[in-house]
This record gives sequence, C-alpha cells and structure tokens, in this order.
Amino acid sequence: MKILVTGGLGFIGSHIVDELIKKGHFVRILDNLEPQVHAGGLPSHANPEAEIIIGDVRKPGIWPKVLEDIEVVFHQAAMVGMGQSQYLVDKYVDVNVTGTAKLLDYLANHDHSVKKILVAGSMSSYGEGLYKCENCGLVEPPMRPKSQLERRYWHLHCPSCNSLLSPVPTPETKSLDSNAIYSLTKKYQEEMCLSFGKTYGIPVVSTRYFNVYGPRQSLSNPYTGVAALFTSRLKNGNPPLIFEDGLQTRDFVHVEDIARANVFLMEKNVSGVFNIGTGKAISILDLANKLAESLGVNIEPRVLNQGRPGDVRYCYADNSKLLNLGFTFKYPELDIQTLVEWSKGVKAIDNTEKALNEMKQRGLL
Ligand SMILES: NC(=O)c1ccc[n+]([C@@H]2O[C@H](COP(=O)([O-])OP(=O)(O)OC[C@H]3O[C@@H](n4cnc5c(N)ncnc54)[C@H](O)[C@@H]3O)[C@@H](O)[C@H]2O)c1
Ligand SMILES: [Zn+2]
Repeated sequence: MKILVTGGLGFIGSHIVDELIKKGHFVRILDNLEPQVHAGGLPSHANPEAEIIIGDVRKPGIWPKVLEDIEVVFHQAAMVGMGQSQYLVDKYVDVNVTGTAKLLDYLANHDHSVKKILVAGSMSSYGEGLYKCENCGLVEPPMRPKSQLERRYWHLHCPSCNSLLSPVPTPETKSLDSNAIYSLTKKYQEEMCLSFGKTYGIPVVSTRYFNVYGPRQSLSNPYTGVAALFTSRLKNGNPPLIFEDGLQTRDFVHVEDIARANVFLMEKNVSGVFNIGTGKAISILDLANKLAESLGVNIEPRVLNQGRPGDVRYCYADNSKLLNLGFTFKYPELDIQTLVEWSKGVKAIDNTEKALNEMKQRGLL
C-alpha cells in the first residue's frame, strides 16, 4: 500500500516507517525537522527507502503533493511537550490543531485516495486516570488544583465522600478531562479526525499512547519523554530531577510496540479509540533508579517535592480492547535495555535547567 507518515522523522513516526517498510509498503514522510527535536538536521535513523518531503503540515499548498496516491495516513506530526505548551500556547494549537485541520480540509475538498487514517492520541488527554473509592465505586476525579500542588499534597480524594482514592486501569471510555494545553490539542486532534471519519465514511483510529520510551527519542529535547530526559541527565553526570515525591506512576510502553500496534490496527478492519499501554504502573523514582543502574552510574535522583501544573498522579492503561483483537506486546514489562544501549552512541545535551527556568519565569514552578 502507499502510506503517508506525518512526523515520520520523529521518535515514534520513524519506528512506524520502519515497520511499514519491513512489510513491503511504499512510505512517504512529511516532516518539518522541528529544530527542538532535530538539532542536528536529518536524523541518521531516517529510513533511506522512504520518500521524504521536508515541509510543514500548516504550509499552504503542500497537501496535493504529499497526499498523491496515498491510501493510509498515519498522522504523527505534533509539537510534543506538556510543560512547554502552557506558555507556547499559540504554537502548540497552531501545529497540532490547525495542522490537522489543514489535512482534513484538503481531504474534504479535493479528490483523494485515502481509505484510512490513524491519528496519534495521548493518554495525557484523560487528565487523571480512573480511580476507585471504597464507598462510591469508580470515580473520575478532576486534576489537582494549583492550590493543592502548592500545599505539596499529592494524593487524590473522592469528590463526594473525601476518602483516599486508589488508581485502577483507565479504559478508553473515561472522559477526557485535562487542563494542559498540549493534552487539549491532542484531544481536539483526535476528535476532529474521528468526527471527520464518521462524516465522510473513512475509518479513523485514534491510537492513544501512554508514556512511550525507547531508542531515537531526542536526548536533547527537554520538553518531552521522561525516560529520555533522565538518560540525558545521567549521561551528563547530573541527577534526574523528580517532581512531587517520585511515587507518581506512569505506564511506560516501548516504541517498538507502539509501531507494531499502529500497523496491527491499520491491518484490522476497525475504527475508534484504542489505548496503547502495557497496563503496568511504574513509579518515576523507580524509572530513574533503573536507568542509573543500567547506565552504570552512581547518581541518586533529586526529589524536588514540588508539583507541576498539568501533571497527573496516576494513569495506566486498560488495554483489553487492543488485546481482545489479538495484539501481543513484545515488551510487556519495562525494558530499558534497548534505550540504554542506543543512548551510548548518541550525544545528549542536557537542557533540563533551561526548560525549568522557562517555567519558573512564568510562575509555573
Ligand atoms: N512520546 C510520547 O510518549 C507520546 C505519548 C502520547 C502521544 N504522543 C504523540 O505521538 C506523536 C509522535 O510523538 P514523538 O514522541 O515521536 O515526538 P517527536 O517530536 O519525536 O516527533 C514529532 C515529529 O513531528 C515533526 N513535526 C513537528 N511539527 C511539525 C510540523 N509543523 N510539520 C511537520 N512535521 C512536524 C517533528 O519534526 C518530529 O519529527 C505526536 O503526535 C505526539 O503527540 C507521544
Ligand atoms: Zn467516595
């Protein structure tokens, strides 16, 4: 098949490209080499068998060439970064929402050959995950207000009876309730594509990724990817900086499984939203310690005991919808070995302090 991967030079997109080429498909990439992600220009992982168009999803007139003969679109291009989106509001909305609108607008108004769209959604759009209250049953609590984070109290309580809540796996049916700009743009991106698909009879899949880790995640972009961020800190002899008490958890899913799940969902006759996470919750502290051990450095993380607006406490996937289709994970447990091995040959510029200062200047920390 003839397939377009927007953002196909990025971390996740490039793995999708490789998986598709391995299966014999023709792949075209549209990517603008966003400097924050690609400081060194064209990445060495760019697949030489793909056709590459360097260009911006927002650029007027780009879509006729990009979509020529294309049957499936994987829309991965986006600005990615929760904290940064809180102050680069215009850029995040422009690339993620307007960029998606440009694609859909072209499809709505021109002849095309697109038969399926897969759009990258994000678990961050859920806001907090799903929880259980011992008195009230399942609860969808709102994100913790700034005033609570300022009190340095991290736990969630039931909005009805105030009991302490415990996390349970989050299914696709949980309402999307984030107040971070990045997460909102991801929600609009996926909802626009899903609604477009229903209107025009094109199957659309939103692949709602949890926290993706693995080789090729930029080690010099301080705005996204906690595993890459910590690897960069440790490689530079610096302690990973941990918000809250470090016991907040995330569902870390290997990028190879993300790519495999994308291609799996392309091949299945399905549409709608699919969580792509392992269903396992790992604490941030645990991740930092495991990375230090694997990299062979004796550096303790620094726990800041400070909250960051937009962060959630617990969210891990209920992935039964994906598993029930027959998908199996190659990495069902956290396996940082491939990330660590790859990172040894890659230059990592630690820009963490710069990113934190940008937040501090705006009163966000
Ligand atoms: N990494 C994660 O943990 C995670 C989790 C949930 C969702 N996602 C989503 O997955 C997708 C891929 O993320 P990633 O982690 O690979 O990030 P990434 O930054 O490595 O890749 C994004 C790619 O998009 C390109 N891009 C950015 N702006 C563009 C524009 N205006 N026009 C064309 N190309 C542009 C970048 O150059 C980059 O190559 C994104 O949509 C992201 O929101 C990622
Ligand atoms: Zn309750």
